Amino acid sequence: MHTVTLFDGTPLPVMGLGTWTMGGRSHPDPSQDARALQALAAAFAIGYTHIDTAEMYANGHAEELVGQALRGQDRRRFFLTTKVPYSVATRSYVRNGVVPYCQQHGIVVTAYSPVEEGRLRVKTALAEIAAQHGAAPYQIALAWLVNQPWVITIPMSHNPEHLQQNWDAATIALTPEQMARLDGLA
Ligand SMILES: NC(=O)c1ccc[n+]([C@@H]2O[C@H](COP(=O)([O-])OP(=O)(O)OC[C@H]3O[C@@H](n4cnc5c(N)ncnc54)[C@H](OP(=O)(O)O)[C@@H]3O)[C@@H](O)[C@H]2O)c1
Repeated sequence: MHTVTLFDGTPLPVMGLGTWTMGGRSHPDPSQDARALQALAAAFAIGYTHIDTAEMYANGHAEELVGQALRGQDRRRFFLTTKVPYSVATRSYVRNGVVPYCQQHGIVVTAYSPVEEGRLRVKTALAEIAAQHGAAPYQIALAWLVNQPWVITIPMSHNPEHLQQNWDAATIALTPEQMARLDGLA
């Protein structure tokens, strides 16, 4: 299998396995368990080691099935990727322990919908910190994410200006005081 080499030298297989609809769609559908487990076993036998999941797939059940399928396999050979709902305004994954757990164990967290699908409200703290940096408030919202250890993000935009702003946001270094102020926003 062709691989891309990550910066640390780790080879990541270019062909992964998606799991959307395995074990259900928006809700768990146990009648699909055997089918999903068979598919996962067949994939592992072929040589798939890169599995993409998302908590929303079958409301978490797809991830449970992947976990079940991985029992007995050499876990060190596998890449499991997933995504979590994380932004200045949305902290459920901090409250439920996922983000702290990943940060403590060196697991990269991908924050999707980092500007709340374009609906992130610009509160005073965000606006003031943006002014201090000569930046746009949404850039600060993105910088707040990527200034955290082990957190990356994937803002979507069709607008070239926004694309550039979002790209540049990765280089904005927030002070500990600014991070703490934004931590307190939710
Ligand atoms: N469950 C999942 O696995 C899951 C779910 C949702 C998303 N995702 C992934 O995560 C990606 C990002 O999440 P998302 O698309 O839901 O939400 P998002 O990135 O938070 O928001 C995208 C919206 O924000 C606007 N926007 C982006 N940058 C901006 C900026 N600098 N200033 C002003 N507006 C800006 C965009 O409009 P313009 O085009 O006008 O800039 C677009 O309408 C998705 O595209 C998808 O790849 C995964």
